[in-house]
Amino acid sequence: MRVPADANFSMNYHTPVLLEEVLRQLQPHTGGLYVDGTLGGGGHTEAILRVSAPDGRVIGLDRDDEAIASSHARLSEFCVRAQLVTANFSELRNMLAKLQVAGVDGVLFDLGVSSRQLDEPTRGFSFLRDGPLDMRMSQSASLTAREVLATETQEELARIFFVYGEERRSRAIAKRIVEQRKHEPLETTTQLVRLIERVLGPKRGPVHPATRTFQALRIHVNRELDNLREGLAAATEALNPGGRLVVISFHSLEDRIVKWFFRETQSLRVLTKKPLMAGEEECAANPRSRSAKLRAAEKISEVCSQS
Ligand SMILES: C[S@@+](CC[C@H](N)C(=O)[O-])C[C@H]1O[C@@H](n2cnc3c(N)ncnc32)[C@H](O)[C@@H]1O
Repeated sequence: MRVPADANFSMNYHTPVLLEEVLRQLQPHTGGLYVDGTLGGGGHTEAILRVSAPDGRVIGLDRDDEAIASSHARLSEFCVRAQLVTANFSELRNMLAKLQVAGVDGVLFDLGVSSRQLDEPTRGFSFLRDGPLDMRMSQSASLTAREVLATETQEELARIFFVYGEERRSRAIAKRIVEQRKHEPLETTTQLVRLIERVLGPKRGPVHPATRTFQALRIHVNRELDNLREGLAAATEALNPGGRLVVISFHSLEDRIVKWFFRETQSLRVLTKKPLMAGEEECAANPRSRSAKLRAAEKISEVCSQS
């Protein structure tokens, strides 16, 4: 499926990844109703609305008020065809019940954070920008990365870094954090980066030494893996027969959850045996797309019990 020619998707906010593949797998059509569970800058949603013109609709969710506000402005021309709500996609079941929606024709989850969230120092997501250790996707959530680093035990910090960051030196980093916080609280991303560099050494290869610890903290603060499990279950339940679920993940922990969920859910037919990835051209134009993996599945009408 082609990206509509009248659309300008290279936005400052966030350039949507794997856009043509998303449309090919989701197959938006006239009159269809879709959920974009990770609205971000609204790039994928805009494409879905254009392809499903004149009356296809999208319910767009994001935990981040700022993403909702920015997408409102971008999608204003679509009026009632775009319904945007600040919400966690793990609450999809309740959201759809409140909106009196019985079933939808497709659901998209484009996981992780947007370029805007990463680039904004005050959000604290990036080890390349100096800012407060915040890392909350939702402005109304109470737990911040600063609080996690200030209050969790050494063992729990090591567990978080190991499980969510696959950081082999998790124990050494946790030990250094607990030593340091006795003298001085960790408040900023730069303080944390310097501490990690003191434990792991400075950047040598292509991957910054703080990458895994920052990923782990972000996943923990936002309960990302639990949300994903709950979101996948709710999305599957919400799909009409023939409806499609498309998920783009950016690291192996997410991709593993999606892969096994698709395999083990009897009401889904897997459409992508192997995950789809960006081609060279897209990777060169948008480096963020390099780690993107897209998986898609279709809701099947009847589950035949084999007895
Ligand atoms: C990669 S961006 C999506 C970009 C979007 N597809 C676009 O075209 O601009 C991910 C977005 O999902 C949001 N998000 C992540 N997890 C979420 C969740 N559990 N519920 C709702 N929004 C979530 C983030 O706040 C972020 O804005």
